[in-house]
Amino acid sequence: MDVTLISKMFEELPRQGPGLDESTAYACSQIPINLKGGKILDIGCGSGMQTLILAKIYPDCIITATDLYQPFLNDLTLRAKKEGLEGRIVTHQASMDNLPFDKSSFDIIWSEGSAFIIGLSNALMYWKNFLKSDGYLVVSESAWFIDSPSDECKKFFDEIYPDIKSESDTKEIIRDAGFHVISTFRLPDSGWWDNYYSPLIKRIPLLKEIYADNSDAQMIISGLEKEMEIHQKYSNEYGYTFFVLKKQGNY
Ligand SMILES: C[S@@+](CC[C@H](N)C(=O)[O-])C[C@H]1O[C@@H](n2cnc3c(N)ncnc32)[C@H](O)[C@@H]1O
Repeated sequence: MDVTLISKMFEELPRQGPGLDESTAYACSQIPINLKGGKILDIGCGSGMQTLILAKIYPDCIITATDLYQPFLNDLTLRAKKEGLEGRIVTHQASMDNLPFDKSSFDIIWSEGSAFIIGLSNALMYWKNFLKSDGYLVVSESAWFIDSPSDECKKFFDEIYPDIKSESDTKEIIRDAGFHVISTFRLPDSGWWDNYYSPLIKRIPLLKEIYADNSDAQMIISGLEKEMEIHQKYSNEYGYTFFVLKKQGNY
C-alpha cells in the first residue's frame, strides 16, 4: 500500500489518529516530574494536535516533533505559529526506526497511536536509547478490553492489526522492553469521534470524488468505512490505552 497516498488522504484533518487533548494532558499529569528546560520528542506526530498541548503544558521545554510525512509537519509548523508556540516546537522529518538524534538526550518521549507502525516492542526497545536514564515515555496503543471479542471484531483485527493484545499482555511487552508502568488509562470514546472519525466522515465524499479513478484509494476509503462501522458496533471490546512508562534502571 502506498503510504504517501494514505497520508495524503489524512491531510486537513485535526489529527491523524484517535486522541483527545484532555487525555494528552492527563497523561502528562501522571509523570511525576516538574520538567523545566527539558527536551521532549514526539514520534509519529502527524499534524501535531498532541504536540501543541505538550508545548503548552511544558512551557520551558523544547518539543521535537517527528513524522515521515513532511506535509503533516508543515501543517504543525503553521498551527504552532498561530498559537505563538513556533519557538518551542521543532519539526524533523524522520522515520521512527531511524532517528537522527543523540542517544540519552530526551527527558520524555511521546507517541500517540504510532508505535504500532514498527511494533510496540521494537519501538520501545529502539526509542529507549534516546531517553535519559531517568526518562519517561508515553504511548497510546490499541488493546482488547475484553477476554473474548466478538467474531466479527476479531476477524477485522486479524486483517488490520493481528498484534493487538490485552492491556495486561501489553504491560508484559512493556516490562520486557525495559520500562516500569507508572499509569494506564483508556482513551474515552469521544477521542475516537471528536477530532478523528467525525471529521473523516465529513471528508469521505470529497475523497471519493478526488480519487474516483484510483482503485488503491477506493480500497483505503472502504477500509476506513469498515473500521468506523466496527468501532460503532464494538467500542466496548477494544480501544486505545495510554501507557505512562519510566525507563528501568533508576526507579
Ligand atoms: C495514526 S497516525 C498518529 C498521528 C498523531 N500522533 C495523532 O495521534 O494524531 C500515525 C502517524 O505516523 C506517521 N508515520 C507512518 N510511518 C512512519 C514512520 N516510519 N516513521 C515516522 N512516522 C511515521 C504517519 O505519517 C502518521 O502521521
